Amino acid sequence: MKVLITHSIPGNGVSLLRGHNIEVRVLEKKKVRKGDLIATLKKEAYDGMISLLTDTIDEEVLSAVGSQMKVIANYAVGFNNIAVKKAKEQGIVVTNTPGVLTETVAEHTFALILAVATRVVEADAFVRAKQFTGWEPELLLGVDLLGKTLGIIGAGRIGSRVAEIGNAFGMEVVYHDMQKNKALEEKIDAEYCGSPDEVLRRSAVVSVHLPLTDTTYHCIDAQKLSLMRSDAILVNTSRGPVIDEKALISTLRQRKIFGAGLDVFEHEPAVPAALRKLPNVVLTPHTASASIATRGEMAKIAVENVLAVLHGGKAPNEV
Ligand code: DGY
Repeated sequence: MKVLITHSIPGNGVSLLRGHNIEVRVLEKKKVRKGDLIATLKKEAYDGMISLLTDTIDEEVLSAVGSQMKVIANYAVGFNNIAVKKAKEQGIVVTNTPGVLTETVAEHTFALILAVATRVVEADAFVRAKQFTGWEPELLLGVDLLGKTLGIIGAGRIGSRVAEIGNAFGMEVVYHDMQKNKALEEKIDAEYCGSPDEVLRRSAVVSVHLPLTDTTYHCIDAQKLSLMRSDAILVNTSRGPVIDEKALISTLRQRKIFGAGLDVFEHEPAVPAALRKLPNVVLTPHTASASIATRGEMAKIAVENVLAVLHGGKAPNEV
């Protein structure tokens, strides 16, 4: 059997697969282009594949996949890069890596919230630029979190964990999701809002935790941003296109909100110059899940899913 891995992954996943008598090909490129992936898949038949969230595995790519392909394990919790319905029609099991990155992404989300609130990135740049000439009462004033409202849009695993951390910081939590999260309500007394609009209107910090689908694309647009308070912070560690990036840039430029923290962008890896120039936004390069332990665990899970399917069993994390 043969497995294609579109990029090197941390840990001993490759040797684990080889130990099961599986031939493994790891593509060397930093990012494999769609055309190259199609050519690779047409040239040789594979039984399984481990893909990254940056690999486009749409209907065209799936058409190039040989009939013996049984499993595509995405090295991510999100799987908007894969045409799952088409894969299923072809009898291919698609898997992801849920759970294991919850804590890491939630902690990174809170790092962004704190960074924007305390203006720590601006302050660091200020000192490095030798601009610190003495203590001043109004130098780099930020906002406090204690007693403020934290609004969660999408209260799944990661959103719920961010809510818990916010609660530990003395924040009141409100949230919106398609359905109520009773466990979260019981645990931290979180209040359900019937619409994302209510969360946006009421919160001092809004953290977005939505999967990217046709319905969530640009669900935070100019109109929704206009509902936010002028002292509010917006954070997104889910998927870039759930926020209309142009509308957010304009909102930040006009200082209609206090600031934003973004780990994801609408057209990754492109980050608009207009966004990079703004002082009231903290930017990280889609690294919310990037802890040594978590990235290793994600690789382990992807390999386990591949092995389960190739050995005729049920994938633990079929999407
Ligand atoms: C995922 O796994 O979907 C995350 O975006 C990785 O950071």
